Amino acid sequence: MEIIHTPVMLNESLEYLNIKPGDTIVDCTIGEGGHSVEILKRIGERGFLIGIDKDEDALSRARNRLSVIGNNFVLVHNTFADLSDVLKDLSVKQVHGIIADLGISSLQLHKAERGFSFMKDGPLDMRMNQKAVITASVLVNSLTESELADIIYYYGEEHLARRIAKAIVAYRKKKRIETTSELAHVVESVYKRRGRINPATKTFQALRIAVNNELNDLEKFLKEAPLVLNKGSRIVVISYHSLEDRIIKRAFINNPVLKRINKKVIVPAREEVIANPRARSAKMRVAERL
Ligand SMILES: C[S@@+](CC[C@H](N)C(=O)[O-])C[C@H]1O[C@@H](n2cnc3c(N)ncnc32)[C@H](O)[C@@H]1O
Repeated sequence: MEIIHTPVMLNESLEYLNIKPGDTIVDCTIGEGGHSVEILKRIGERGFLIGIDKDEDALSRARNRLSVIGNNFVLVHNTFADLSDVLKDLSVKQVHGIIADLGISSLQLHKAERGFSFMKDGPLDMRMNQKAVITASVLVNSLTESELADIIYYYGEEHLARRIAKAIVAYRKKKRIETTSELAHVVESVYKRRGRINPATKTFQALRIAVNNELNDLEKFLKEAPLVLNKGSRIVVISYHSLEDRIIKRAFINNPVLKRINKKVIVPAREEVIANPRARSAKMRVAERL
């Protein structure tokens, strides 16, 4: 069965972006183009869409979907942390809207060979950018016990981080940890009781953040993005865990050229969460360039 990523808070994000025909919009996490397909329709043939993703597979899937609608778009394989450089290379100075829908797509999560999921046995990879050098396996097999504990504690908010790091180091003395299942079993061995959430959830989140430099990329992006927005134009960011949401909230409050459109975070409607459980942790924040 073909996996398709369902865009999260599609209607809300497009409404807040306030798109008009002829606009230039940047989708910083184009993924499979779920948001961008609708953006391309709304900007019309005089508009211009710029799509960025770290993942080349995602870009080629997005290209196939977008090409059916129009050809007034460009796709760039890069991190959104380099947004200013991406726009400079395209000779675009200012844009009318920016959207970033963070994290990974269903496609990445469900492909065992990408190594993001503890539910599927695959190589312990977790790279969004398949050309990057550092995989989760490299980190798990080479960092010191205290470096691993810090990553699992800070990026996973995992209170058993020290014990998990110790178990990883003990295991890898016998054998390198190469697969998602091996790591998931090591983490499970530390937990005495299983709750509703899989014990490996937080450790996998932590390693994914570290492998992809996610929080540093987000901080740099949030500094650059407001500077390339036209006055009165908006930035919409959807995040899926509290570490990201805190960074976005702080960046919007502290930026003197931004005005927050909603003080309270926007969450998906109940019907959306029922139809698409992946949306349950989504939080959207919107700001406007002054
Ligand atoms: C949740 S998905 C986006 C889905 C998309 N909105 C859709 O509806 O099809 C997140 C995407 O962002 C990409 N991504 C995450 N961090 C990135 C970064 N720093 N720079 C560029 N792309 C990134 C991932 O590779 C993934 O394809």
